[in-house]
Amino acid sequence: MSTSREQSVTGPGEFLAAYPGYESTAALDRLRSTEYAYLDDGVVYLDYAGAGLAATAQLRAHRDRLAERCFGNPHSENPTSKAATEVVEQARRAVLAHLNADPEEYCAIFTANASAACRIVGEAYPFARGSRFVVSSDNHNSVIGMREFARARGAQVVHVPIDTPELRISDSAVHTALRPRPGLGRPGHTRRGLFAYPAQSNFTGVQHPLEWVRIAHENGYDVLLDAAAYLPTNELDLRVVQPDFVPISWYKLFGYPTGVGCLVARRAALAGLRRPWFAGGTIAAVSLQGDWHVMTDDESAFEDGTLNFLSIPDVAFGIGWLREIGLDMVHRRVACLTGWLLDRLRSLVHDNGAPMVRIYGPADTRRRGGTVAFNFLDPDGVVVDERLVAAESAAAGISLRTGCFCNPGAGEGAFGIELPILRRLFRTRLATVEEYVTALGLPSGGAIRVSLGLPSTLADVETFLRFAESAYRNRPATVAGLRPRERC
Ligand SMILES: Cc1ncc(COP(=O)(O)O)c(C=O)c1O
Repeated sequence: MSTSREQSVTGPGEFLAAYPGYESTAALDRLRSTEYAYLDDGVVYLDYAGAGLAATAQLRAHRDRLAERCFGNPHSENPTSKAATEVVEQARRAVLAHLNADPEEYCAIFTANASAACRIVGEAYPFARGSRFVVSSDNHNSVIGMREFARARGAQVVHVPIDTPELRISDSAVHTALRPRPGLGRPGHTRRGLFAYPAQSNFTGVQHPLEWVRIAHENGYDVLLDAAAYLPTNELDLRVVQPDFVPISWYKLFGYPTGVGCLVARRAALAGLRRPWFAGGTIAAVSLQGDWHVMTDDESAFEDGTLNFLSIPDVAFGIGWLREIGLDMVHRRVACLTGWLLDRLRSLVHDNGAPMVRIYGPADTRRRGGTVAFNFLDPDGVVVDERLVAAESAAAGISLRTGCFCNPGAGEGAFGIELPILRRLFRTRLATVEEYVTALGLPSGGAIRVSLGLPSTLADVETFLRFAESAYRNRPATVAGLRPRERC
């Protein structure tokens, strides 16, 4: 796979010459025209890091299942209840099989999404004075937010710094953050805390080393490996890499159903969690007057209330769909298109020879996924306001993302914002993101994010590149008439 190309190149001929592996993914073009035909209708979808897309076969399977069989509320012995339990348990087995997880060692807890999975861990993890929450700077807010639980219970919160220009995190930074320090860590305690990082960044597409899981374990940490952005185009083998907690949102893999995620967890690590409450479905026994309760001793202790029993079976279908296509083919296709997108973005120049694009994160395809963050620059090197790109790309029928993508650490790394100024700003208590952008003197309030997935084609990428050239080549950056930013 090519990693550095000097010249601007266009056309399928050059693409295939640079990325010959793409041809072996032609089956996905056929699927796109039959199963994702709604994309033919002028839709240019480039937000697979936001949500994957559903095949019509998935929707048919859902309708057929509900039309053919009656499902009742699970947790009971009646026939419709048992029917629901049966399909939910099937889905649980499919999740573990997809991750090659040993069911003796791991279990799958159904949640609403990856954020809910993070919350379960954050609120029940035995953080205490003397323990630590070590969290990589490149992380989704739903993982960063766990620090509030840690801090509230007196644990030390440690952010592992991010390096420019690739916005990776170095092995040595991870080692330093995890290394024992005098006076920290409770004597006689086997676990020193929790280390949390994403297998793939939702901002830059960087794939962080899975090897850190073993290193963290050796240093006495439990590990939360956020797989939400990684799993849509990559295999994760839980017999090889053995994190303790793995949050997942299934709509990111195959678009449908929304509202169903998982916390895949090691049973041994779950046993160390203490839930701060109980709910319907989570308890083996409870007394109102006696004021006691006993949680169930399996994954159901973490599933609050009635499961989404009409949609959870769609996860099993989605996993089957992805496996039948083959994740290796999806991975290959997305890697080829990402390489081409990066090559072409790097080759875009104004007439004065100045680059049109600043990429945040790796500019080649090594150890990265199909998410690319960047800003457009004008001929004088001034950043084109991301709100302008949001409005103009939307008007052109293109679905992409702008902003910081709920990943403040990668955003601060991308825009070179340093800790002292952030601390000073916090003390001034600014109210809106717009005020922060102005106070920081940032040229823009965020980046542009284009991300690719299973149904992506060369035509999608080329349409976006044509839009980019026609909209921003040789054009001075102006900010007049843009609405203030209300949130990041
Ligand atoms: C890496 C990563 N982690 C966690 C999340 C949170 O997922 P959800 O919003 O489905 O809870 C996202 C969502 O974009 C993500 O990309």
